[in-house]
This record gives sequence, structure tokens and C-alpha cells, in this order.
Amino acid sequence: MSKIEFDFSNPENAIKLSFFLGNGQVVLITSCDARKKVQGILTASWMTPTSHFPLLLTISVGNGREGSEDDNYRSSYALIEETLEFGLNLPSKQLIEVVGKIGTLHSNQTDKYAETGLTAIDAKIIKANLIKECYLNMECKVTDEYVTGDHTVFVAEPVFVRLDEDVFVDGKFSEKHRSKQSQVHFGDIVDMWNMW
Ligand SMILES: Cc1cc2nc3c(=O)[nH]c(=O)nc-3n(C[C@H](O)[C@H](O)[C@H](O)COP(=O)(O)O)c2cc1C
Repeated sequence: MSKIEFDFSNPENAIKLSFFLGNGQVVLITSCDARKKVQGILTASWMTPTSHFPLLLTISVGNGREGSEDDNYRSSYALIEETLEFGLNLPSKQLIEVVGKIGTLHSNQTDKYAETGLTAIDAKIIKANLIKECYLNMECKVTDEYVTGDHTVFVAEPVFVRLDEDVFVDGKFSEKHRSKQSQVHFGDIVDMWNMW
């Protein structure tokens, strides 16, 4: 499926995009170091839009130390801190096993693209890869950050957005991509892992 640019400078589109991002989907955050040696992917459910104009969103990323006993080490944290940018990629339900697996591995130890078969594509503005199989790819620049206990909240603004061509049709996000059946939500992964 070919990808098309999404014009979020149009205020109506920006509002629709913030609604679409704000319904609790699990996202894949891509990031890399300044020399593009490590290409990270982080599964994240703690993502939310936080402003319409300008369009801003937040992600919350574990900031624990590598090797420490706590469970909050994310190699992606250092990558995002280094470049102050990241990609936000939306997976559909077909990728649920991959989304779960990415959430159990560390990008500085495992090439998650090779491990999962996902395809890296170049971004237009940021250094980090984007994920071809995801139906929405958003390039983001960090504007602020707040330490909130064992996670750090990164506030970011989108700088470029592209979508599979069937995602936004006739001025609307399509039923196929809006539906809870086709999106990945946190509870789907908890169900899959029988963790309730
Ligand atoms: C469904 C799911 C949601 C997750 N949400 C977050 C999140 O919002 N923030 C976070 O820091 N880690 C979250 N994680 C944990 C990370 O994805 C996980 O620790 C990952 O292995 C870190 O990868 P990295 O070391 O390559 O950054 C989530 C994991 C899963 C499975």
C-alpha cells in the first residue's frame, strides 16, 4: 500500500488526528542515536495527545538504569534523550504478536527489525527509521520533558505525518482504521498474555 502525506496544518485535520491518537492505541516508538548505529523500537501504551493547536502529544518512557533491579530500563530512553526526536508508528491488530515481542526486548541488544521481520523506512525529517507495516507514521520533535517518578514524559510536536492511502478518505479516518477490532489496545496484549 502506498503512503501519502497527511496535512495536519489544516486545523480540522489536526483535531481529527488528535482524536484518533487519543483513543488508547498502543504505538511503536522508533528512535536512534545521533550516528544512527542503534535503531530502537519501543512498544508504548502511555501516549496521549495534549494540545490541539499547536498539535502536541506526550509519551512516557521508563528512565531506569541498565542493569538495575527495577523493571524500568528502556534503551530507547537514551536514544530519545540524545536526538530529542522519535517516530510514532501505529500498528494494526495483525501485528499484535510483534507489538508484544518488541515490548520484551532491548534495542541495544537485539535488532528488533531483524527479530520481527518489520521493514525500516527512511523518515523525511528525523534520523530514526519509521516502520513500513504501520499504517500511520508520525515524525516528532521533543519540545519539553518532565521526570515523573520512574518514567520521563516527553512532550513532542509532529513535524511530518504520512499514512497508508486507505486511512484518511474523503476527509475522515476510515471505519477500518477507527475500529477497535483493527487497532491494538493495551488490554488486547494483557489478554494475549493472560495477565489480568
Ligand atoms: C503493551 C505494552 C505497553 C508498553 N508501554 C510502555 C510505555 O508506555 N512506556 C514504556 O516506557 N514502556 C512500555 N512498555 C515496555 C517497553 O516496551 C519494554 O520495556 C521494551 O522492552 C523497551 O525496549 P527498549 O529497551 O528497546 O527501549 C510496554 C510494553 C508493552 C508490552
